[in-house]
Amino acid sequence: MRKEIAEIIKGTEVDYTTTVKGWVRTFRNNQFIALNDGSTNHNLQVVVALNFLDDATLKRITTSACISATGKIVASQGKGQSVELIAESIEILGDSDAEQYPLQPKKHSLDFLREIAHLRFRTNTFGSVFRLRNALTFAIHQFFQERNFLNIHSPIISASDAEGAGEMFHVTNFDLEKLPLTESGEIDYTQDFFGRSANLTVSGQLEAELAAMAFTKVYTFGPTFRAENSNTTRHLAEFWMIEPEVAFNELKDNADLAEAMLKYVIKYAMDKHPDDITFLDARLAEEEKQKPTADRAEFGLIEKLNFLLENNFERITYTEAIQILLDSPAYKKNKFKYDVSWGIDMQSEHERYLVEKHFKKPVIVTDYPKDIKAFYMRQNEDGKTVAAMDILAPGIGEIIGGSQREERLDKLEQRMVEMNIPTKEMFWYLDTRRFGTCKHAGFGLGFERLVQFVTGMGNIRDVIPFPRTPKNCEF
Ligand code: 4AD
Ligand code: MG
Repeated sequence: MRKEIAEIIKGTEVDYTTTVKGWVRTFRNNQFIALNDGSTNHNLQVVVALNFLDDATLKRITTSACISATGKIVASQGKGQSVELIAESIEILGDSDAEQYPLQPKKHSLDFLREIAHLRFRTNTFGSVFRLRNALTFAIHQFFQERNFLNIHSPIISASDAEGAGEMFHVTNFDLEKLPLTESGEIDYTQDFFGRSANLTVSGQLEAELAAMAFTKVYTFGPTFRAENSNTTRHLAEFWMIEPEVAFNELKDNADLAEAMLKYVIKYAMDKHPDDITFLDARLAEEEKQKPTADRAEFGLIEKLNFLLENNFERITYTEAIQILLDSPAYKKNKFKYDVSWGIDMQSEHERYLVEKHFKKPVIVTDYPKDIKAFYMRQNEDGKTVAAMDILAPGIGEIIGGSQREERLDKLEQRMVEMNIPTKEMFWYLDTRRFGTCKHAGFGLGFERLVQFVTGMGNIRDVIPFPRTPKNCEF
């Protein structure tokens, strides 16, 4: 009977016989195998008695070889583990040539590990990151399911641009060498697979809104795609987004829901995988030590997460945020690279100042200028702002973007025309405003940014198994 290593290590039970299977991390003194099967970041020590295996077999126990070991679980004599397995038989399931194996048992840079992303799952760091990513996925579904939200699978192939930002990947089965042209020389999309131009979705929001007009509370959780040429530690071309949409909710309800969701899923992940969080906390502390004192984060990972759980998020308007920036020592001493004035789309340096220096906790900024936000946001009475909401998190910047939606047909249509959004093509979206419209609100949580926040990983490429970024589509 095979047992998982997590279960063996957690248990207090000893003196029973079992089988374990996994990948060798290290093999010391021809005697101590550190075995890992991914169920935990702890290795099980498998003890090989002297003269128990022939030389040929011993040589095959190399870093990353896959083995099966059967023997007795006993209280450990050594330091660093409470139980160990005294091997009675060992079978090599998959050999690995230690000379050829790119992942030597030593510290590798994250940059290097990204180049061997097919193997990095086998490191402590990525083991912890992806167990936490999994826990967060489950927690998100649980949070919404406990509250009677309906999960909607929004389409991945779409014909609309939900954000109106034009950052889309085309979907076509045209022979790109021989594009059919119309008489006036434009590409003739009527001959394309869908009979029209199509793209990968940038957001499931518009479809979620349609569903909310029937089910009241819905959420999507799916991949989204953006062809924005941003080579940053916060942007991916393919990322996962959670988009709840709730009928009858206004902006404040939307902010309450987002705050409750973040606290719930973070607590769930911390409770579920305390050892992974502890490991990543130490990893981050080590990484911070390499930085100049002025650049170091004020909080450790666990400290930061607990602080978030125990405190209310700060809530301010965009106008207040701009005033805080204008009054800041950083602004007065010309420390910002980009200028500050009412109407700007805040740069990451501004967002980080607000969150990390000024408030030192997550901040919900509402009521942005309408000219820097999407067409679907509800217009405020002042004629200048919309009922938008961004949540900014320490070390991350924008983690959530959302709004109350424009439910008034005339105002929505007028805004779409102003912003060159095709009203005719999007009749289906406008139909919800024609037939039984109501106030509603929703938001989008960038899943990888959440995983970054919880794991303390500095680069978004290190929290998704196979990152897609400009000029990179490996694996
Ligand atoms: O602010 P965004 O663009 O909002 C929307 O897409 C709305 N339709 C959401 C809604 O109201 N239903 O994106 C939402 C979030 C951002 O706050 C960010 O966390 C994440 O998605 N995000 C990205 N994450 C990784 N890589 C990118 N290129 C991202 N672009 C946005
Ligand atoms: Mg946004």
